[in-house]
Amino acid sequence: MMPSPKHVTPSPNNQDIENLNRIAQDILDPEKTIVDLIPHIGDLRALLERHTLLKLTTEVNLAEDRTLLDSGMAVSPLMAAFCAREVLRSAAFIKGAGAAVQDVAREDRPVRVLYAGCGPFALLALPLMAVFSVQQVVFTLIDIHPESLRCAQHLIDAFGFSSHVLEYVCTDATRYQIPPDLIPDVIVSETMNVCLGKEPQVSIARHLLAQAPDALMVPQAVSVEACLLDTSKEHSPVGFAPGETFAEPVRDRIYLGKVFELDAQNIRHWVSITVDCLPAASIRIPAPLPERYQVRLLTRIVVYGQTSLQDYESSLNLPQPLPGKPKFTGGETLQFYYKLGAHPGLGYEVTG
Ligand SMILES: C[S@@+](CC[C@H](N)C(=O)[O-])C[C@H]1O[C@@H](n2cnc3c(N)ncnc32)[C@H](O)[C@@H]1O
Repeated sequence: MMPSPKHVTPSPNNQDIENLNRIAQDILDPEKTIVDLIPHIGDLRALLERHTLLKLTTEVNLAEDRTLLDSGMAVSPLMAAFCAREVLRSAAFIKGAGAAVQDVAREDRPVRVLYAGCGPFALLALPLMAVFSVQQVVFTLIDIHPESLRCAQHLIDAFGFSSHVLEYVCTDATRYQIPPDLIPDVIVSETMNVCLGKEPQVSIARHLLAQAPDALMVPQAVSVEACLLDTSKEHSPVGFAPGETFAEPVRDRIYLGKVFELDAQNIRHWVSITVDCLPAASIRIPAPLPERYQVRLLTRIVVYGQTSLQDYESSLNLPQPLPGKPKFTGGETLQFYYKLGAHPGLGYEVTG
């Protein structure tokens, strides 16, 4: 009987290393928008997938091997790898992380980046290692899953960037104590889900920023806004005639206000809160409420500076119904709050 073929991972050759460098330069090019970068992210993903130790398959339950922490769910190594396929998300986060590093560049030592939840590709760091020298930037990489760290280290070593990494730390980032001599200049973490639900982004950002209050955060701000919308007007009709140009849909929305925002300023305001609930805003549903409108929560992400992710640009930006999909008649006041803990997310009470 023939032995079954082994999962062979070729080492990157000079061409691969050159390609990574070219892709990374393009991603950081301030003239290029995240939409321009769609093909580059496709090339980056293909390159990393070709060299990863992780067995990439969709034939398993992607939720398998995830870890339920007391601050939320850490997605499995496989699920984290598939995040790279969210092209606009990946483009925006790499670009944003690169811009933050450039903004805090200094003469006397490399910029220190603390990357919490690096996943198996260290996707938001590896391209920066190709562009910035070890004199310019160094990284501490954290993940809760040993398999993710092992794969990240393999890729980083294989592409020749070992000296860019100060340390690989396998721990829960919400418990990580930053060594006093390694206080980061930039904290990068994409450990979130739509509406900041389920995953531990809020707890991680609070815990790390408290220890490095001057650090830049990537993402810089994540906000959740309430609105009324007519779902039938959200998308352009598909299948327009040949020769017709793509038209933006004329949406029918009424914005009701921001209900929650995760940013450095709010994190500072929450510093003395020890209970597992963070304050959020209230909104009033207008009366009368025309039948066509439904309440939706919109997640907007300022990744860094001018780089942002807006409605529908990734799974993190899909409009969401309120928990429990309630029906309103109009005139109700909803008081929101953000619940921390193993199942984090926004909740609300009808107060009037
Ligand atoms: C959504 S994936 C993102 C992976 C990668 N950073 C990217 O942007 O493509 C989130 C990663 O964070 C890790 N993670 C989630 N919560 C964590 C925690 N509390 N401590 C350490 N790692 C965590 C998960 O294991 C997973 O690898």
